[in-house]
Amino acid sequence: VVNIGIFGAGFAGSQHARGYRNHPEAKVVMVVDVSAERAQKLAGEVGSEWSTGPDQIFQNPTINLVDICLPTPYHRDYAVRAFAAGKHVVIEKPLALTLADADEILAAANASGKFLMVGHVLRFWPEYLAVRQKLLSGELGRPLAASALRLSNLPQWAEWFRDPQKTGGAVLDLMIHDVDMLNWLFGRPEWVSAVGIKEANGGWNHVSAQIHYDSVQAAVEASFLMPRDFPFTAGIRIVCEGGVLEYQFRAGGASFEAGQADSYAQCHAPGKPFQRLEVETADAFESEIAYFVKCVDKGVPPETVTPQAARLAVQTALAVRESLETGQIVSISE
Ligand SMILES: NC(=O)c1ccc[n+]([C@@H]2O[C@H](COP(=O)([O-])OP(=O)(O)OC[C@H]3O[C@@H](n4cnc5c(N)ncnc54)[C@H](O)[C@@H]3O)[C@@H](O)[C@H]2O)c1
Repeated sequence: VVNIGIFGAGFAGSQHARGYRNHPEAKVVMVVDVSAERAQKLAGEVGSEWSTGPDQIFQNPTINLVDICLPTPYHRDYAVRAFAAGKHVVIEKPLALTLADADEILAAANASGKFLMVGHVLRFWPEYLAVRQKLLSGELGRPLAASALRLSNLPQWAEWFRDPQKTGGAVLDLMIHDVDMLNWLFGRPEWVSAVGIKEANGGWNHVSAQIHYDSVQAAVEASFLMPRDFPFTAGIRIVCEGGVLEYQFRAGGASFEAGQADSYAQCHAPGKPFQRLEVETADAFESEIAYFVKCVDKGVPPETVTPQAARLAVQTALAVRESLETGQIVSISE
């Protein structure tokens, strides 16, 4: 059994907790949040203890997996402390807000010999997996171009999302999902360029980026500027030599898990009608959690999201932000 300590009983912490609750080999032992009320509520849902102090997790010898679902600026310190305490670590995306912080986390993971996994949940999202599988099957030939989008309003459930210093803006918080997916599909990007809208508080909250891969041109749009009741919208389209792959998702409400979603994943080859892709029925967060738990339980390093991939996602996102600031093309160095 994998014993888990969760930091953060907010939106992401609650999603993760549900995944652990439904997993036979996982047991949440402790939920920690600075808000006693939230810690207590989530602990009640998963049948764990709760606390407002971090040592209840770091110093608990029975806990072998620490799950960090804290606001992004806390990721580095909590991860470094968890590794120093000899725990495996799961962190929500983005890994960190700077490459220096990302590198510090990776170094702490290396020094401890424990696993580091980042919650890039699209890598567990059934429709993205169906698109990827079709692409990798080679049936549609080589990919030539791709576009992705992620449109939302600012999350209403927590105040810290209003501060771009804490979230990294739409690029680090939202677009990083698509950036990571494109990197997963097409490899290491060579350069990026971007235009966007910068708000008075310094946040780039509506951004269109071009990402250039060795043989694929990609475009990504991410926005936090949608009206409050605009349904959360995301998707990807990949143009290949022999056809097009598409996934479009429109939630039934402002947040991605709200209401009855309108969604399709399909493939179009010339001369043939649209073909729906075969999509597994699964909750992406539960699949992600189940994967992490299995890796820790079996002692197998996670491969679906490697620390290097999570670092590359941060590096690519930071390059997009640099391009927004400078108006220049920014290359992605090794
Ligand atoms: N993968 C996804 O789709 C997804 C969705 C939402 C959020 N996230 C990520 O998850 C992380 C958390 O976001 P969220 O939406 O859950 O935020 P949230 O505000 O809903 O939850 C964060 C919780 O942490 C608590 N907290 C703050 N500082 C603390 C501290 N020092 N010690 C203990 N508790 C503390 C807060 O009280 C709050 O309950 C962010 O990095 C975010 O980018 C990912």
